[in-house]
Amino acid sequence: MAQKKVLVVDDEHGVRESIRMLLKSAYDVTLAVNGADALAKLSEVKPDVVLLDLRMPDMSGIEVLQNIKAKDPLVEVILVTAYATVDTARKALRLGAFDYLTKPFNPLELEGIVRRGIERRVDALRRSATLEAIQHDYQSLRKEVEMAKHQMATHVRDTIYALLMSLELRDAYSGQHSMAVLWLVDSFAQFLDLPLEERTRLKRAALVHDLGKIGIPEEVLNKPEPLNPADQQVICQHPILSAEIIASVEALSDLAPIVRAHHEQWDGLGYPDRLQGEEIPRMAQILAVCDTVHAMGSDRCYRPRMPEPFIRSELLSQRGRQFNPEYVDAMLASNLITEIQRAEDAGKMVLTSQQIRQVLDAPVSV
Ligand SMILES: [Fe+2]
Repeated sequence: MAQKKVLVVDDEHGVRESIRMLLKSAYDVTLAVNGADALAKLSEVKPDVVLLDLRMPDMSGIEVLQNIKAKDPLVEVILVTAYATVDTARKALRLGAFDYLTKPFNPLELEGIVRRGIERRVDALRRSATLEAIQHDYQSLRKEVEMAKHQMATHVRDTIYALLMSLELRDAYSGQHSMAVLWLVDSFAQFLDLPLEERTRLKRAALVHDLGKIGIPEEVLNKPEPLNPADQQVICQHPILSAEIIASVEALSDLAPIVRAHHEQWDGLGYPDRLQGEEIPRMAQILAVCDTVHAMGSDRCYRPRMPEPFIRSELLSQRGRQFNPEYVDAMLASNLITEIQRAEDAGKMVLTSQQIRQVLDAPVSV
């Protein structure tokens, strides 16, 4: 093991030399003639223990002690003082000195105090290394947890994507409709000048709003004639099912209230909770308008697409009934009813699997 290092700081040549003579057989001893010299040698020598005279002409021992501790708190400092300054030495202990030695001292006393200082230094270094190792392990563990969370989020996203694809297989209209509504809410949110965060939430909600249709029997979903009251009751379950699926996924759970309310009506006659006016989440009010605009403008198994003038007059007739008047006015003022049909005819509504995954990945701060 390398020899431990002791730095002796004293302005008296005789004291320095006598200490050096007593310690040199066991330690690597360096001498400093004053405080400034000691601080200069500190980084060069990297001592384990400093024997520091309290009374020196250039800088007080207390000042040197504070400087040493600021540079390396684990260096053990032993103050060397005359009887007259024992009180000061006690004060120095409170400032982090290890112990003090009063002049005149005998060799055994010096040897004992330096040995204890070295032992304490070794112990402190060992504890510091252990702490560093623990911190390192903690950081590695945190990284692993982050990676695991990321992997879990990826699996969840892939599961939702798989559910969307299953829905499209069962009901081609629903899959295409979700993507078209996504396009429409995004364009409408821009027209409304909504903040990016709300646009993102709307897009994600649009993509999954009808996911609950996966739980609706195919014969009801694809019925070529208008639905009877019993079928209506079944289909009315889909916002609840969508919300339940979404609520079970932590990363998407904030969308559940929007998804659940996308068939609520401004006049309170919607479903499933008969919410009224501003009780309906604002995102759901917007989604409802876009959902209906696209549904009316699409070919369905029981009717062909409605012409644009019909959609406009239908929206107007539902102003303040099915929909928030503000959003009906905005939709009519925008050119989006024309644009969505053009975009759909041009095949712009089909998203790639990567684009869908990106929408599901988008971070949302609630
Ligand atoms: Fe729906």
